[in-house]
Amino acid sequence: MAPIPKGGTVAVTGATGFIGGWVVRRLLDKGYRVRACVRDKDNTVKSGFLQAMPGYASGRLTLHNADLDEEGCFDDIFAGAQGVAHLSHVSDYDDADYVRRVCDHIIASVNKSNSVNRVVVTSSIAAIISEGDINELVRRPVLYEDRYPDEDSPKRTAARGHGYAIGKVIAQNAFADAAAEHGGWDAITCCPADNVGPIQSKHQKDMGPWQHIIEGMLVGAYPQTGAYRPWMTVDVRDDADCHVGLLESVQVRNGERYIAWSTDTRNVEDVCASINRLLPELKHDAPLVTDNFPDRVKAREAELRAIWAGCELRNERIKAVTGIRFRSLDESIRDCVESLITVGEVQARQRY
Ligand SMILES: NC(=O)c1ccc[n+]([C@@H]2O[C@H](COP(=O)([O-])OP(=O)(O)OC[C@H]3O[C@@H](n4cnc5c(N)ncnc54)[C@H](OP(=O)(O)O)[C@@H]3O)[C@@H](O)[C@H]2O)c1
Repeated sequence: MAPIPKGGTVAVTGATGFIGGWVVRRLLDKGYRVRACVRDKDNTVKSGFLQAMPGYASGRLTLHNADLDEEGCFDDIFAGAQGVAHLSHVSDYDDADYVRRVCDHIIASVNKSNSVNRVVVTSSIAAIISEGDINELVRRPVLYEDRYPDEDSPKRTAARGHGYAIGKVIAQNAFADAAAEHGGWDAITCCPADNVGPIQSKHQKDMGPWQHIIEGMLVGAYPQTGAYRPWMTVDVRDDADCHVGLLESVQVRNGERYIAWSTDTRNVEDVCASINRLLPELKHDAPLVTDNFPDRVKAREAELRAIWAGCELRNERIKAVTGIRFRSLDESIRDCVESLITVGEVQARQRY
């Protein structure tokens, strides 16, 4: 029902993650108090970069153990917080009942807190574009917030790889319905695109998938991605700013969702070629892409590329409510590569 107050307290789930780690940093930069939720705060391989943030030294950032698979784990953490940024993955997107149960117990902790004004629920562009029948993208090529995958498609099942997108829509609706019923807080959904940008901790090089694929390019191998879908990108720092902006915005309403993307797209081969263009000094020995798709998908390559090329990506809504100005993908790729080398200790293959 209200944005979070300036300087208030925000709990962040998935805080050791690629995006969550940047949400923590951006909140601290803007003067908030942050409760970072991690599964094991003593695992410094994952949480060390959080403990190295200046806000941790002063106590403005605190770390809290919370495993989503344990009901009630957020009761104490949410009590007294005004905002929740729920970025964490769940253990199994393919089990819809499990996804609902996890949402229910997080919602119960929000209700019990008597303090939370707003929850930002992290979804994905998969909840916009992941179609059982890809031709649905020809029928409805404008990719914006009101577009949902065709729920009537018999091919839109977890068994066919759509569990993630289905689970994200379940979570979005569960939070929005619960907030409407409670009346004291609101739930806004953020749908990030493909996150590219700097990692903050070595363990994040293996996550992603996008930064992990760029790591593969650096060390000499990378596969074709997503049925020839071009990367539809957002810089991870901009994505974090979108999350913070949605927590702060006075223009958003319960149940709304916002896509976080710059609308920059690039084919995976061109992402790889960008490394030498942006960082010639690196003398990157650029590998060739491998295509591991089954023959029936390979046979449709031209058709699939044309379908993706016909899509129109829109981002007016997130820009209007947060004022975000998105970085270029070139900047994201450059900073991702440099962080993989410095933070991730990746040895890039060189031509000589
Ligand atoms: N990366 C992208 O391009 C992208 C695109 C669209 C949407 N998203 C969404 O954005 C969110 C964050 O993605 P990310 O790429 O930052 O993820 P990530 O780097 O893989 O991090 C995932 C986080 O989830 C936590 N987690 C997983 N299972 C958990 C459980 N059972 N209990 C508590 N925590 C658990 C992990 O904690 P541990 O450290 O304890 O393992 C980790 O902090 C996700 O919801 C994802 O679906 C990401």
